[in-house]
Amino acid sequence: MRISGKKLKKILTEETLKKVKSIGEICMESGYPCYLVGGTVRNIILKVPQIDIDIVTEGNIRLFEALPKKLKIKKIVFSQFNTAKLLFKDGCSLDIAQARKETYPYPASLPVVKKSSLSEDVKRRDFTINTLLMGITKKNFGKIYDYLGGIEDIEKGIIRALHKNSFIDDPTRIFRAFRFKERFSFRFERRTKTLIENAIRSGVIKKLTPQRIRKELFLLLKEKKWYKIVLSLSHNGILQELGIKNELKRVIINSFEKKISDFINIKRNRELSKLLLITEDASEKEIKTFSQRVGLKKKESELLLELRKGRKRILTTLSKKEVSNKEIYWLLTSLPLDAVIYLLSKATSQSRKRILLYLNDLKNIKIKIKGDDLKKLGIKVGPIYKKILQKLLDEKLNGKLKFKREEIEFVKRQFK
Ligand code: CTP
Repeated sequence: MRISGKKLKKILTEETLKKVKSIGEICMESGYPCYLVGGTVRNIILKVPQIDIDIVTEGNIRLFEALPKKLKIKKIVFSQFNTAKLLFKDGCSLDIAQARKETYPYPASLPVVKKSSLSEDVKRRDFTINTLLMGITKKNFGKIYDYLGGIEDIEKGIIRALHKNSFIDDPTRIFRAFRFKERFSFRFERRTKTLIENAIRSGVIKKLTPQRIRKELFLLLKEKKWYKIVLSLSHNGILQELGIKNELKRVIINSFEKKISDFINIKRNRELSKLLLITEDASEKEIKTFSQRVGLKKKESELLLELRKGRKRILTTLSKKEVSNKEIYWLLTSLPLDAVIYLLSKATSQSRKRILLYLNDLKNIKIKIKGDDLKKLGIKVGPIYKKILQKLLDEKLNGKLKFKREEIEFVKRQFK
């Protein structure tokens, strides 16, 4: 298989292609083969526009110190594991690794890395779909090298592990397997499914460090179909390994996106909102275990516990017949945005309107006068300032004092 230049231009930007070609030239001059590899090639075949570029070579990584000036490299970061990260002036980055073999001294450990050939390098990887290489020299540009049946598995939509210890050696691959399965709507090959199930049952997930679990969990929460992945994790006993005992309810997880979709200001991925949803039926003890296993920060864990206790009270107050803007504001302002969005997904029509009012309007109300203005009014600096500013905000929340001049008049009336 060879990917044409035309097709590549649709997936990689012209700038990226230029960089990749230059790197190919350098490798060719030095006599070492050099290829695009892994997820990069998988995405090219699947026609997924690509930002992360991974390159593998048998040559010494220090070779790349001599990259031409015209490439506008800002910095190259070398690691002790024979990898180099090229950071370009235009903000792009590109990872180059020397071909390697990996061995795992014990389950869930970090691998011990040794230099090796390209054919060994592809064998150490997670799934066949991630083992493809693509030539980047003049001679072989766009040519796909498939040693392990990756193309066929991509075409058939199959996630296939390369060897039977893959998930025991590196249990992060269990998370990756579910992530790729949902992202591409693929299915597990039969033996791979059994290997995953056996690895989960063996308890190896608990052997991963909290930092590694956190990384995987947050990555999958960023996926478009995160809710499907999370349900699969729950259904397959993975969330239970992380401390959440009961299986998640499909309807709750599925309705989350729908309920928050009319709040258009959602630009980030809202991982914390999703974690609140995942842990909402868990006991205090389960949340503490989950937080520790998943490496949550103290603040994140405290928020999960706080909302577990307080969400009912907040939502009940917000659905009262009469609630002032001031009350809505002070009820929600101490919470991070992710928590408010989570509450939005739980709200009934009345409380929903009020949360939307907070998000779209109240949250953005700011007092126009500053401490200096108060000084000019002859008010002595002290705790009174906080009181005045709070009183001003309360007035503004209830729709009064639109202009600075009105704020000044108000202070004169009330505090002089
Ligand atoms: N890899 C692996 N085992 C892991 C992590 C990574 O074998 N636990 C290999 C795979 O070949 C993968 C490559 O390293 O394709 C690059 O890893 P990464 O950038 O994490 O994954 P991608 O496959 O590029 O996935 P994504 O699209 O999510 O970035």
